[in-house]
This record gives sequence, structure tokens and C-alpha cells, in this order.
Amino acid sequence: MAILELGVLASGTGSNLQAILDAIAAGTLDAQVRIVVSNVREAPALQRAAKAGIATAVIPHAQFPNRSEFDAAIAQALDLAGAKWVVLAGFMRVLTPEFLKKFQRRVINIHPALLPAFPGVHAQKQAFEHGVKLAGCTVHFVDEGVDSGPIIAQCAVPVLDDDSADSLAKRILEQEHLLFVDVLRWLAADRIRWVEGLSGERPKIAIVPA
Ligand code: GAR
Repeated sequence: MAILELGVLASGTGSNLQAILDAIAAGTLDAQVRIVVSNVREAPALQRAAKAGIATAVIPHAQFPNRSEFDAAIAQALDLAGAKWVVLAGFMRVLTPEFLKKFQRRVINIHPALLPAFPGVHAQKQAFEHGVKLAGCTVHFVDEGVDSGPIIAQCAVPVLDDDSADSLAKRILEQEHLLFVDVLRWLAADRIRWVEGLSGERPKIAIVPA
């Protein structure tokens, strides 16, 4: 089977990127990160990529007149690098329908909440302030909405009585690293299937048993 060729988009710290790079280096994830693209010049994710010898591109969104042109520049960088799958690892921009059409069913995102609860930014804080007892994270395919695409996998994280928003976010992040790599392993093993709704309802995602 062809190796999974990933393009990772990241705006920040890049700990999820690091989990992916570590799994590849350990030989437990059959994938290659072809490029890491960031819209933020100072993003530590870029340093992590460079340290691992991976190509990087900085594409600052503010330098483009509109989202379409920004996304076209990202798509071009991904194409040039030979990335076939797009992995959003803390990428804080919403992608345009044109971009998603080009990489149809090939863009996945990690979100630090049990979707469809708490989409958008600061999801862990939203969940904590709401007083939920179970928080968590979700890996999903990206559609045109915000954190609304078909769910691939989720992991629940209990909220403890002495949690702060920060301590909860930290425990969620630990699970993100595991969940994201697991999903990429399923992708590499061609175990992820779209199950179309029979009468127009949302498609669902099934994981083929190993
Ligand atoms: C992660 O918690 C990720 O789920 C979140 O940003 C963080 C990035 O951390 N993404 C979103 O909120 C996207 N809506 P990292 O840079 O250390 O991987």
C-alpha cells in the first residue's frame, strides 16, 4: 500500500505535530510528513518540523486579499511537496469550500472537545465553564462548517473536581496526541470508510476491524 503522504497545517505549539513525528520516527506510524505549513511565522510547530528535517512553509493569512487566495497558496505548497492528505494540527483558520473540494475527504482535524459540543476556539475552556463532567477530544473530517464534519474518533476525559480550565486542557491534550496518531494509523491501513446516509442524512465514518 502507498505510504501516507501528509501535509500538516499548524498555527501554534505543534505538540500534535510532534506526536505524529515521534510515531513516524518510532516506526509505529507508516506515514511521511511532506511539509508543515503555518500561517504564523513564529509558530513553534515550524521549529519542530525543521528539527525533524521536514520542509516548512510560512504563509501568513494577513498577506492575502481574501481567504480563497490564502487557501490557494496553501494548496500550492501542499501540491509541490507531494502531500496527499491534509492534517490540521492546531490550525486556527477555516478552510474555503474550494480548498476542501480540491482535497475532498482528505482533510482531517483534531478538536479539543467532544463535538458537536463546544466547536470553535477555546473549546476546553468553554466545556469547563459550562460545567461538563466529561470533556474530551475529537478527530473528524473537515467540511465547510466549523468543526462540523463527520466524526472519525473521540476520546472522553473526565473533569475532576479540582480541575482548572488549564489542568483539564492539559489532560485533553495528552489524549489528543494518542487519538490523532491512532486515526492516522487507521488511515495508513486503509481502515476508514465513509458510510453514506440512505436518505440524505449525514454520512458517518466506520472503522474496518484490523
Ligand atoms: C490542540 O488542543 C488542538 O486540538 C487545538 O489547538 C491545540 C493545538 O495544540 N485545535 C483547535 O482548537 C482547532 N479548532 P498543538 O499546537 O500543541 O498541537
